[in-house]
Amino acid sequence: MRALLVYESMFGSTHEIADAVVAGLTEAGAEVELHEVRSAPAARDADFDLLVVGAPTHAFSLSRPATRQEAVRQGAGAELVETGLREWIAALGPREEAHDRAAAAFDTRVTKVRNLPKAASTRASHLLRRKGYRLVSRPTPFLVEDVQGPLVAGETDRARTWGRELADAATRSGPETSVAS
Ligand SMILES: Cc1cc2nc3c(=O)[nH]c(=O)nc-3n(C[C@H](O)[C@H](O)[C@H](O)COP(=O)(O)O)c2cc1C
Repeated sequence: MRALLVYESMFGSTHEIADAVVAGLTEAGAEVELHEVRSAPAARDADFDLLVVGAPTHAFSLSRPATRQEAVRQGAGAELVETGLREWIAALGPREEAHDRAAAAFDTRVTKVRNLPKAASTRASHLLRRKGYRLVSRPTPFLVEDVQGPLVAGETDRARTWGRELADAATRSGPETSVAS
């Protein structure tokens, strides 16, 4: 099982969760390639069975240039405005290029509402499904205490467990399996 994990992170919290998800995937036997979104390869140039994406929730969705600019105003690095996960997913090829591969999305957020219908991971899951990917997990949130972090205690452990579960779900699942987004 080869996994490609692409994440966006303005203040480092989503990056920390991405590292923990990688640890869990690896423990479950996956071979993982981890990329920050600005240096991530196009999916057509990568070799993977499972695509995992993660991003901070900005204005109830994936970031846009204006919300990344706002994050920079609040102390994030100016170089991060350039692009985000929304743009990376938009650049995915037509549905046929997905080859019905497995995918899952997570986000970070301050909102404690559990099944928030509008957040970065729900948006990313919807876009991935439209691009022909087969979701093997519900959109999954991880909590930060404030905009600039830190993560709420225990979230990296939860992310590691989620990573292990994802690898198992992707291994078990066939073309008929899909989880609601
Ligand atoms: C412009 C902006 C908009 C945000 N909007 C939301 C939001 O709608 N809901 C929410 O729960 N958190 C929101 N947040 C908090 C982010 O989710 C938080 O900064 C992020 O999880 C931190 O992850 P990062 O360090 O990887 O950037 C927002 C943050 C910024 C900078």
